[in-house]
Amino acid sequence: MKWTACKIKKLKGQQKIVCLTAYDYSMARIIDAAGVQLILVGDSLAMTMLGYENTLPVTMVEMLQYTAAVVRGTKEALVVADMPFMSYQASIEQGLTNAGRFIKRAGAGAVKVEGGAFRVPFIRALVDNGIPVLGHIGLTPQSIKEMGGYKVQGRKVNEARRLVKDAKALAKAGVFSIVLEGVPEPLGREITRAVKIPVIGIGAGRYCDGQILVTHDLLGLYSDFTPKFAKRYVDLGFAMKKAFQSYKREVETGAFPSKEHCY
Ligand code: KIV
Repeated sequence: MKWTACKIKKLKGQQKIVCLTAYDYSMARIIDAAGVQLILVGDSLAMTMLGYENTLPVTMVEMLQYTAAVVRGTKEALVVADMPFMSYQASIEQGLTNAGRFIKRAGAGAVKVEGGAFRVPFIRALVDNGIPVLGHIGLTPQSIKEMGGYKVQGRKVNEARRLVKDAKALAKAGVFSIVLEGVPEPLGREITRAVKIPVIGIGAGRYCDGQILVTHDLLGLYSDFTPKFAKRYVDLGFAMKKAFQSYKREVETGAFPSKEHCY
């Protein structure tokens, strides 16, 4: 079954929604085959794929290229393209044009934008023009300079109230779902209950309608920065290093290539 934004929206209250990031064709194929419903081409690729310190430097050109590769590797999951920093902040017109490039040129099924109630005019413009939107509130990495780092959000009562209002405003504006990042579990539960659309948590506790993780964290492929919520299911980084060492040893000793690998 091909997942669409509409179908994902209907999953609220029916089943937990499973989401992961992917940035390339091969990874997308494996994640898609595993039955994950939503694949996000996250701007986290700035860090995991391009080695930047944060997500801010990644460009539209780079995001389009990675998104197109993920779309080529995906049969069933909904592919959501993350709009990079400053591709939508300067004006609604520029944001619309850039979102359109993700849909028309890269083949994405939706876009993700960071920000709360103040982002509503842009979200409305996207939705009115037929572009499904995944919202993102709480810890929004494109605002780390302003937030002063990767800090849990909504610990104070007034902050928590603002986040509940943000979620409601985004839902009213027409997003099909919201990513809620880095908030205390009770607030994750309150926000999930406050809106009729699915809330996808990342570091937002157990009561969200679904979960998303950065695939590199889950696989143990990125160790520069590991947040508390990132569960490592396998240490592929270690397994890969061992494989590379075996290859090196075999090339150096002449054990590879052996007869079976020769024409
Ligand atoms: O860029 C990303 O990977 C994200 C997820 C962490 C939600 O925004």
